[in-house]
Amino acid sequence: MKSTNIVLSVAALAALTVSFGFSAVAVTDRPAPAGVNQEPMIQVAQAVDLATLMSEGAKLYAANCSPCHADKGQGGAGPKLAGNDFVKSSGAVITQIFQGNEEHGMPPFADALKDREIAAIATYVRNSWGNTSGIVLPDEVAKTR
Ligand code: HEC
Repeated sequence: MKSTNIVLSVAALAALTVSFGFSAVAVTDRPAPAGVNQEPMIQVAQAVDLATLMSEGAKLYAANCSPCHADKGQGGAGPKLAGNDFVKSSGAVITQIFQGNEEHGMPPFADALKDREIAAIATYVRNSWGNTSGIVLPDEVAKTR
């Protein structure tokens, strides 16, 4: 009985391997339909874990945000972000980055930055300088847009 089971599962595995093999060949051999952007397939392969977003976010924050919020989030022309309860809400941070507040001196970034870049910056400000509010995924940014 036991050996029958093993034989069966080996057969199942072989069948799986074959069907995977076929579908992989089919996907790579088929030319992309006109107008289909293949970039998302590459993005799926990139890690979107906390450490990756933090390191991407650090650079983007330095370039886009630190002139007003300072390199350690201590504030300047804009409010301090270190220990600021505002950053606890991922939705509020995303919306603030999208829209800024031109009346009060913060430019909008919705057109200048991609979903992943905003996710990285939001993740960075929510998890730096003593803030511990968790990751923001590009999907959440895309849904808020
Ligand atoms: C030119 C200056 C400037 C830049 C650049 C800037 N901000 Fe701001 N930011 C401000 C000002 C001023 C405010 C206050 C706006 C208001 O009163 O609503 C603000 C508010 C905020 C707030 C809300 C804080 C609170 O307590 O209300 C967050 C979060 C924030 N900015 C994040 C960012 C991030 C992230 C970036 C970079 C993508 C950025 N800002 C770039 C000036 C700036």
